[in-house]
Amino acid sequence: MPKYTITVNNAPMSVEAEADTPLLWVLRDNLNLVGTKYGCGIAQCGACTVHFNGTAMRSCVIPISAVGSNKVVTIEGLDNNGEHPLQIAWQELDVSQCGYCQSGQIMAAAVLLKNNPNPSDEDIDAEMTNICRCGTHVRIRKAIHLAADKLTSE
Ligand code: FES
Ligand code: FES
Repeated sequence: MPKYTITVNNAPMSVEAEADTPLLWVLRDNLNLVGTKYGCGIAQCGACTVHFNGTAMRSCVIPISAVGSNKVVTIEGLDNNGEHPLQIAWQELDVSQCGYCQSGQIMAAAVLLKNNPNPSDEDIDAEMTNICRCGTHVRIRKAIHLAADKLTSE
């Protein structure tokens, strides 16, 4: 089986996998980074969202052979202590319901705030295309505003 060395959460990781194995599978099954979730497998739901060179990407449709030197960050690497302003805002507002989609939501929101530190409701609705079956989108929007306030007051 081919061997790959990829950079995940700022560390080099060696894995053996078939070339067409989705990055999501490698993260979960080879590297035990199970915070990133499998929902649809066809880039529709966003549960598998990671940062790929700083862009929010759906890891279920990135083959391991395409990762190369691109830097991958998962929810485990967003903040060393799990205290990214988004994670704190999510806790303060009790955003999660079943929780399944939430790591993908937070990873997408982190890129949104990096590119747009003070987003409007419309900006959030346009960028946050991740699906939540529990209907937490209203709380997600509030939590993004709260995190934006925290980030701008830091
Ligand atoms: S599992 Fe990747 S977008 Fe749904
Ligand atoms: S919290 Fe259940 S799917 Fe989003």
